[in-house]
Amino acid sequence: MNFNVEEINQLIRSRRSIYPKDYTGATVPNFIIEQMLENANWAPTHKQTEPWRFVVFSGDGLKTLAAFQSSCYKEVTERNGSFKEDRYQALQTKPMESSHIIALGMKRDAGKRLPEWEELGAVFCAVQNLYLTATAYGIGCYLSTGGITNFEEAKSFFGLESDDKLCGFLHIGMPKGTTPDGRRRPLQEKVTWVNH
Ligand SMILES: Cc1cc2nc3c(=O)[nH]c(=O)nc-3n(C[C@H](O)[C@H](O)[C@H](O)COP(=O)(O)O)c2cc1C
Repeated sequence: MNFNVEEINQLIRSRRSIYPKDYTGATVPNFIIEQMLENANWAPTHKQTEPWRFVVFSGDGLKTLAAFQSSCYKEVTERNGSFKEDRYQALQTKPMESSHIIALGMKRDAGKRLPEWEELGAVFCAVQNLYLTATAYGIGCYLSTGGITNFEEAKSFFGLESDDKLCGFLHIGMPKGTTPDGRRRPLQEKVTWVNH
């Protein structure tokens, strides 16, 4: 197989998180979302558990997500005393700033043959495939792990059970323009080579 390695290096290194304030408001064609999901399905998976699950919200579906996540937030936080009006308002309105939002789930296999961290690792490999495919098509996206991500009460809405995990939301939109610069600390801080 021949790949253009220079292009792939550039794709990986130029991938950036692009936020809804930098989306035009135009709708991303569904065939691109389908390609993103197809590539996500080719993530590596220990014991072939393929634990990634996706719920795609678009069109009026974004309003459905907004209504659910805001009411779930209100119900849970009023009970535990952490309710914040501005967060509630944001959960009610933010989804409509994206073209599509993909809720990201991790489904435990019946036998729980792997530790949870391995299954979460596989899901986030799939998320990287979503990110890179979006970048290749010139589409913006970012991963959010805020809002109701960690709410136990949110899981069932996304088809998840108590042993499963809601892993966040990928917000997707047509980017307005230039890609933001990326910053990383030097690789040397994070790598050890052993040659002898
Ligand atoms: C596991 C994970 C969770 C993240 N959660 C959030 C989040 O809740 N809100 C947010 O604005 N960005 C979130 N991000 C995006 C990061 O902020 C972003 O990747 C980081 O700033 C590096 O920028 P880049 O993606 O453009 O290289 C998350 C990224 C990862 C990998």
